[in-house]
Amino acid sequence: MARKFFVGGNWKCNGTTEEVKKIVTTLNEAEVPSEDVVEVVVSPPFVFLPFVKSLLRSDFHVAAQNCWVRKGGAFTGEVSAEMLVNLGIPWVILGHSERRALLNESNEFVGDKVAYALSQGLKVIACIGETLEQRESGSTMAVVAAQTKAIAEKVTNWDNVVLAYEPVWAIGTGKVATPAQAQEVHCELRNWVHDNVGAEVAAKVRIIYGGSVNGANCKELAGQPDVDGFLVGGASLKPEFVDIIKSAT
Ligand code: G3H
Repeated sequence: MARKFFVGGNWKCNGTTEEVKKIVTTLNEAEVPSEDVVEVVVSPPFVFLPFVKSLLRSDFHVAAQNCWVRKGGAFTGEVSAEMLVNLGIPWVILGHSERRALLNESNEFVGDKVAYALSQGLKVIACIGETLEQRESGSTMAVVAAQTKAIAEKVTNWDNVVLAYEPVWAIGTGKVATPAQAQEVHCELRNWVHDNVGAEVAAKVRIIYGGSVNGANCKELAGQPDVDGFLVGGASLKPEFVDIIKSAT
């Protein structure tokens, strides 16, 4: 079965009400391939989630950028998976490298978060990826495998998981992975899933690429057999996000 192309826009910690309205208007007016061909998910900061959800066209969906690892309670500043479900937010991004690096989220913690979010009915974009130092020392696959293993140990049903391979050295740097570099890791990762999770999951799970994707480089990346879409940061705040969605066809 063909894997449906997936394009996520991670707005990170950006935007004002006016800017958010402008981005949503651009998306709502865009002519893009149908939902049968491409799944589009945008991820505004928490405070804008209900607003974006209320304005956004019905064939696009929203994602939170994080959620708490367990049931809510006395965890000041956190947002629980239950709250997202209560608000009708279908997706959450977990394990983004910015949170791993800046907030010390370990592989195990990310695995716990993914499992808890799934148990509450959320769909998860789980991020993995190596630093430049790790790539240069030849440990890319070991790092990515360890990150994925920590998720695989806690997850039994992969139907609602999208894996986002985001090399840290490519994020926000303008230094995109070449199509061959992306394909190599995606292919090895799919093989890892095949050997460690199962053939069916490996064939079905979408592995998307993130790191300096833009309107100019998306088409060639999208042409790689194991690149099933993108997680876009900077360019998801601009009209060129529409071109990235269109790279699905
Ligand atoms: O989640 C998105 C990634 O961090 C990519 O960000 O497209 O700005 O490099 P970027």
